[in-house]
Amino acid sequence: MSITVVYPGTFDPVTNGHSDLVERAARLFDHLIVGVAGYPGATKRPVFTLDERVALCADVLGHLPNVEVRPFENLLADFVNECGAQVILRGLRAVSDFEHEFQLASMNRQLVPGVETMFLTPAEQYAYISSSLVREVAALGGDVTRFVHPCVQRALDERMARS
Ligand code: COA
Repeated sequence: MSITVVYPGTFDPVTNGHSDLVERAARLFDHLIVGVAGYPGATKRPVFTLDERVALCADVLGHLPNVEVRPFENLLADFVNECGAQVILRGLRAVSDFEHEFQLASMNRQLVPGVETMFLTPAEQYAYISSSLVREVAALGGDVTRFVHPCVQRALDERMARS
């Protein structure tokens, strides 16, 4: 049976930690859909537009033949059904991620009972990276070359120069 997995997130912007996770998962599953959320939860206001976040993910992950990048603006549970996916993938970086991830996975189990949430850990050197930290370092003129793909760095430079 062919397994399709959805890896949802805000990706504001996509980091090397995200791509590390996608590369690992792309080796395990037949088809991986990176779902870029237009509604990333009530507390987040993304810096990059949905189209920009999708374009950056597509640039960074374009070398992986079984990976597709798609935006979604509805409930994750509905998007997963539309994709015909059997698995939701999330990254676990540290114990502090666990509580939130446990809540998300439990809610999604209620909403799409047939779909399992699975977790992968990124490589140790990416365990501390988050999109908001990368944005903050870039905004204050710090070097983010080790944390993001060059095309993301260019997009951050342009965005920070404008603001
Ligand atoms: N490498 C680097 N960073 C990682 C990472 C990894 N491997 N794994 C997680 N992160 C970071 C993300 O960059 C993000 O950082 P930030 O907060 O600094 O931006 C953080 O960890 C995770 O944020 P979180 O808010 O938990 O998740 P998310 O932004 O990745 O995605 C959605 C949340 C999109 C999955 C969720 O809001 C959603 O499903 N939205 C759709 C609407 C919906 O269905 N809601 C009901 C859900 S039950």
